[in-house]
Amino acid sequence: MNELDTLVESARADFAQATTPVDLENAKARYLGKAGRITELMKGMGALSVEEKKTRGAAINVAKQAIETALTDRRQALADAELQAQLKAEALDVSLPGRQRGVGGLHPVSLTLERIEAIFGSMGFEVADGPEIESDWFNFTALNTPEDHPARSMHDTFYVEGGSAKAPNLLRTHTSPMQIRHAVQHVKRHRAALDAGQAMPEIRVIAPGRTYRVDSDATHSPMFHQCEGLWIGENVSFKDLKVVFTDFCRTFFESDDLVLRFRPSFFPFTEPSAEIDIQFQSGPLAGRWLEVAGSGQVHPNVVRNMGLDPERYIGFAFGMGPDRLTMLRYGVNDLRLFFDGDVRFLSQFR
Ligand code: DAH
Repeated sequence: MNELDTLVESARADFAQATTPVDLENAKARYLGKAGRITELMKGMGALSVEEKKTRGAAINVAKQAIETALTDRRQALADAELQAQLKAEALDVSLPGRQRGVGGLHPVSLTLERIEAIFGSMGFEVADGPEIESDWFNFTALNTPEDHPARSMHDTFYVEGGSAKAPNLLRTHTSPMQIRHAVQHVKRHRAALDAGQAMPEIRVIAPGRTYRVDSDATHSPMFHQCEGLWIGENVSFKDLKVVFTDFCRTFFESDDLVLRFRPSFFPFTEPSAEIDIQFQSGPLAGRWLEVAGSGQVHPNVVRNMGLDPERYIGFAFGMGPDRLTMLRYGVNDLRLFFDGDVRFLSQFR
């Protein structure tokens, strides 16, 4: 083996020993660098004759090319090895279970409200929405509630800033103010027909939403839900109330095995008034009377405050508790569970 072959072999061995790109570049410098062996050999040709330079130069070039090829091969090998190592280190185990995305759901009371809206919607009722901060007029006065009624006391009602001493603002204690708000709008829309003595389309509306009272225990929450119902026309009777509400209850609870009782009661805004109780004839709640709503024929003073003539317009109203309906439907025994925000409870309704 001549000197140049030995040099190529030695370069190959050095390159093979280099295990990092830095090692390899250092090894390269020893052969191909400015002070490298090949460069030295080239410089050493200065004393040779032209003829000798030719053959010697060609031989050195062959060696140089062999070393460069060895270098390129080794570079490639190191790059491949690095890539393999990286792939191995960053390998994904595609058999691992994926990270779950949390699935949200509606609150049980929201589910009930949607259900109520769908059922009354199918009976031709509109759905109305209104403010939770109310004036004393809409919440009490327009609903025929006398000045000294106990519901107006600070023990029962949250009063808020704004309004005047004579007409304070408050958090609505029931959804009944929506009777007045909605009816007034309705009457306004049909004012021309009414003034011309023509018939007005019936008012048929429900108004679900949040209500507030100074009250807190296992069955009372300072914030709770109500859903108001109102049907006013020229010929709407208590019988219609019975039909509508019985239909609603049987659809809501998906049971015909259910009877209703209209128990005489008192509300300032209805006359006569009745509490509506239901009784399941079978199942876990069978045999107990359960109160679900207040109701009655709308008081003439209230009809007047709607802007209508009580001699001509008559109808019924009811106010029910969606929280209570939710408890009955799902068998929940503590109202506070709805408002604690505990995901373990809420996720059961997803
Ligand atoms: N607003 C009443 C309450 O909160 C419930 C009620 C009773 C609503 C009779 C009505 C009704 O519309 O006619 O206790």
